[in-house]
Amino acid sequence: MIEDIYYLNNGYPMPKVGLGVYKIAEEEMEQAVTAALDAGYRAFDTAYFYKNEIALGNALKKSEVPREDLFITSKLWNDYQGYNQTIEFFTKSIENLGTDYLDLFLIHWPCEADGLFIESYKAMEKLYEEGRIRAIGVCNFNQHHLEKLMEATEVVPAVNQIEVHPNFNQQALQEYCDSHDIAVTAWMPLMRNRGLLEYDVITKLAERYNKTPAQIVLRWHLAHNRLVIPKSKTPERIKENYDIFDFNLELTDIAEIDSLNKDERQGNDPDKVRIGTLK
Ligand SMILES: NC(=O)c1ccc[n+]([C@@H]2O[C@H](COP(=O)([O-])OP(=O)(O)OC[C@H]3O[C@@H](n4cnc5c(N)ncnc54)[C@H](OP(=O)(O)O)[C@@H]3O)[C@@H](O)[C@H]2O)c1
Repeated sequence: MIEDIYYLNNGYPMPKVGLGVYKIAEEEMEQAVTAALDAGYRAFDTAYFYKNEIALGNALKKSEVPREDLFITSKLWNDYQGYNQTIEFFTKSIENLGTDYLDLFLIHWPCEADGLFIESYKAMEKLYEEGRIRAIGVCNFNQHHLEKLMEATEVVPAVNQIEVHPNFNQQALQEYCDSHDIAVTAWMPLMRNRGLLEYDVITKLAERYNKTPAQIVLRWHLAHNRLVIPKSKTPERIKENYDIFDFNLELTDIAEIDSLNKDERQGNDPDKVRIGTLK
């Protein structure tokens, strides 16, 4: 489906909707992956930190979908930042996933105070030049982190994966990323189903468009030029979260969801996370 594809700043195609697999347990993975592939997903977002790279790799292998049709993202964990460690870590990560390349490899957190993200990224640039990663990028980078990174390195990050949802719309960072052709992927796009999907504004729109609240929120992200990686282990929800390409939100409805912004983060603050603080 053409509408499902976002062309990254190096021309590499990335599906706009991927399955986030944080908190999908090993024993739940095969069912989730099968449901996702059946629904049309080809992108999967994991990380060493999620402790399920092996399970994801096994489930994908079992599906027999050709590797070149899949888009696999993983992330460099904080404790492995540093030039040599990044190369070693990447090798371990692709071994876990049972693949010889990643479509996208991201720095998980800047951990700026530890001073290693630039050399970590330089190692990723080397892996990218060698063709072992199709695109490289970052997660949880604020504007000042991106400026520092881009001043010291060659390859503009293809992606910045950040917390975004209607209560925390990150408008300024989104505009900065848009202006540098850095694709924003929303993590926690559904605000982890902590109340957002019951907001009046969302349920009324769901009724009017004959879609579900989750579909309204995901479509709102796409309208803002973002990619999304909703997590679900539930087959019906996995299907529902992909079924968002048959409608468009009107501008006034997008603005109504925008008005839910409270600049309220649910997850960790990227300026506070340091190597070793997240377990
Ligand atoms: N880079 C980073 O630092 C970072 C941080 C956090 C997350 N992420 C990535 O982003 C992905 C998504 O974020 P997230 O897992 O934090 O939150 P999320 O996708 O906003 O929410 C997941 C929660 O919403 C529920 N849900 C999913 N679809 C639903 C639907 N259609 N209706 C109602 N409830 C629904 C899920 O329940 P069930 O599973 O029970 O169905 C789960 O409890 C993660 O899996 C991970 O890949 C990245």
